[in-house]
Amino acid sequence: MRLVICVFLIFYIGSVAAVFQCYSCHRKNNVTCEHEIVNCTKGDKCVIISEEYLYFNVTFRSIYKGCAGNLPCNSSHCGRINSEHHLMYNIRCCDTNLCNTQFFEMPKLGKPQGPLCPSCYKENTVDGCEAKGKIRCQNKGDKCIKYSGTVKNPDGYVMSYSIRGCITPMECRFNLKRVVALETIQQSVFECTDPDKTLM
Ligand SMILES: *[C@@H]1O[C@H](CO)[C@@H](O)[C@H](O)[C@H]1NC(C)=O
Ligand SMILES: *[C@@H]1O[C@H](CO)[C@@H](O)[C@H](O)[C@H]1NC(C)=O
Ligand SMILES: *[C@@H]1O[C@H](CO)[C@@H](O)[C@H](O)[C@H]1NC(C)=O
Ligand SMILES: *[C@@H]1O[C@H](CO)[C@@H](O)[C@H](O)[C@H]1NC(C)=O
Repeated sequence: MRLVICVFLIFYIGSVAAVFQCYSCHRKNNVTCEHEIVNCTKGDKCVIISEEYLYFNVTFRSIYKGCAGNLPCNSSHCGRINSEHHLMYNIRCCDTNLCNTQFFEMPKLGKPQGPLCPSCYKENTVDGCEAKGKIRCQNKGDKCIKYSGTVKNPDGYVMSYSIRGCITPMECRFNLKRVVALETIQQSVFECTDPDKTLM
């Protein structure tokens, strides 16, 4: 009898230990969130994505937690249009069971050191905008972006806009699909290009 219990116990502990779990939540416009626990696949990591979206004078801060999957761990990303509009997010991973206990975390960006990109912002149109100014990108390998589409702001406000500015190369690959709080309703243009060297 004792042997049976023992074997059962080992089996039980073994199967619990084999499950890798993370805290999970998705909260727009709040730096904290209520946790659930999710099972991730073995070998995965837990993630916390903190996102800051500046829309004119309003800053929306949002948070996502879950399994890291194929997200680029421990990296920061940003899209900058001008001093009134930017989107930044920080991806932080950890690799032990239920380790993603922390909440919103956004590293301070230093002085932008990247190339220059044409910059413009125009609301209520998906027909593009004419760049009269330029913006200095945050990091050396950043790309220029041309975007038109309809989005839902974190406060529910739906608008169409056309923008040009800077973007982190990783975001060109993810095509804004990793964004936490800014919901894409329709995307008409999403074009990443290398910065024009003659502008530097
Ligand atoms: C943010 O979330 C916390 C915890 O869920 C809640 O108590 C608080 O009211 C929320 N704040 C806002 C501005 O929604
Ligand atoms: C996670 O795995 C545990 C152990 O296998 C299981 O009891 C639990 O139901 C699973 N949870 C979810 C949400 O699938
Ligand atoms: C943002 O600016 C607009 C117009 O200038 C003003 O009406 C609004 O109250 C401001 N919002 C905040 C949160 O400061
Ligand atoms: C991410 O950073 C944390 C904290 O510095 C570290 O423990 C972890 O190993 C890093 N993960 C990866 C995948 O680099």
